[in-house]
This record gives sequence, C-alpha cells and structure tokens, in this order.
Amino acid sequence: MDDAFIELASVDGEITPTGVATIGLKDDGLYRGDGAFEVIRVYAGKPFALVDHLDRLGRSSASISLEFDRAALTREIDMLLAEAGEIEGQLRLIVTRGGRRIVATEPIPTHAESVSVASITYQPTVILTGVKSLSYAANMEATRLARARGADEAVLVRPDGTVLEPPTSTIFWATRDGVLRTTALEAGVLDSITRDRLVEALEVEEGAWRIEELHAAAEAFLASTTREIQAVSSIDGEELPAVAGPRTREAQEAFAATLAREL
Ligand SMILES: Cc1ncc(COP(=O)(O)O)c(C=O)c1O
Repeated sequence: MDDAFIELASVDGEITPTGVATIGLKDDGLYRGDGAFEVIRVYAGKPFALVDHLDRLGRSSASISLEFDRAALTREIDMLLAEAGEIEGQLRLIVTRGGRRIVATEPIPTHAESVSVASITYQPTVILTGVKSLSYAANMEATRLARARGADEAVLVRPDGTVLEPPTSTIFWATRDGVLRTTALEAGVLDSITRDRLVEALEVEEGAWRIEELHAAAEAFLASTTREIQAVSSIDGEELPAVAGPRTREAQEAFAATLAREL
C-alpha cells in the first residue's frame, strides 16, 4: 500500500506533491530548528484527536513565543485531507519561525509487533521540555545511539536515573504485581495524546521512577500516535518475562475502543 501512497503537502495553503513543495531557505525553522510540529494519525481519511493536536501545537508555539494562524491552518488541513481522500496515513503539521504553515500527508512508518529498548542518558533542557519543537536532533541521535547498542529504540533516562520517555513515544510498564506505571508529566516528558487516552481508560500510577524499577518490569509497551501500542521485548539486553503481556493487551483493547468511539 505504501508504494501507492501519494504524499501531498500544503505550504500556506498551496497544495503540491510533497517532493516538489518548497519553502525559502532563509527560514529559522531550518537554520535553527526554530518552530513547532505535530504528527496526527489519519484513519480512513479522518484525523484522530485533531483538536488535541492543534491545542498542543498552540502550547508548543507559545512556549517558544511563536504565533501562527490557527484558523488558516485548520482550513488548510481540511483542504489537504479533502484532496488526499480516505487515506490510512498521518498528517504532519509544521509552523516555522519564518512564518510558514506546512501540512503534509505521510504513510505510516512500519513498526514491528515488539521493540527492544536501551536506556540512553539525557538531560532535558528546561526551556524545551514538553515542547514539540523542530529541534529534535537530540531525540533522533538517542535512537541512533540505542541502535549502535543493538536495540531498536532508546528510552531516555535522566543523569540521576529517572526514566523519562523514548524519543518519540511514551513508555508504560507493569510491575511484578501488575501495577501499570508511566512517568509523570512533571518529570519532564511530552504530554502525549496517546498517553492521555490510556491514563483516562486504565488505572495508571504516574510518578518519577528509577531505571532499576523499569528493569524489574513484568512487561512494558510504547505508546504514540504512529506506534499506537507496541510491546517491548527487552530492556538493556534483558528479555521481559511477558511480551505483549496482559496489561499490554488490555491497553491495546482500550485504545482500539477509544479510536472506535472518537472517530
Ligand atoms: C518526546 C515524545 N514523547 C511522546 C510522544 C507521543 O505523543 P503522541 O501520543 O501525542 O503521539 C511523542 C510523539 O511524537 C514525542 O515526540
């Protein structure tokens, strides 16, 4: 299906195939990663949680003193979705310091049923914590560092040993006595929309947990717009006792029910 996916982009309302879409070179969105973005899942042409994503884009932009025209962006999203048809894909929104509004359709990246993770030390910056800014180079490098250690994905851990999140998702895990846990937002993680829906639907203990507690998990999973719910197979080279264990399957079912209800 991906071969047939036609990627389209809107730049300030002008729609073209993404491959030929352009913005001016001298945009600090490019020169300095100064801007904000969102990735939204589109199911059969319908965007999931669009308002939440626009709200978060508003908060990210406000955090870096960047204004954008939300009404214009919303119109451009509608126009692009109408042009794209009933796609199974995702929508990338970008607002740049140079003032460009970009909306682009993309195929969903393929994700295996389970993923191995390696802990990578990371110190959140105070100013950009919880902000989906265009400055994601550290997140991308963390994944490469994890891959160099033989894992599929990173889990960012503060120098003091507090578990944060993977570079583009949230991590949940179950303790040996079945308590589902995830990092509290205050510890310095993104207010993930998938996380929000799971915290609503399931009993989840939020807190600041140490890496040793994650190592002792009975099962774990990653949650995000593109991954939905993906089982974790191993952490720092140690296999987890259950891969797609009961709490992971419960989360998958709860998220599927949320999608069915909201779409
Ligand atoms: C740092 C980070 N954490 C978590 C997530 C998951 O957020 P969402 O569920 O809103 O996709 C993302 C999404 O890309 C992210 O970049």
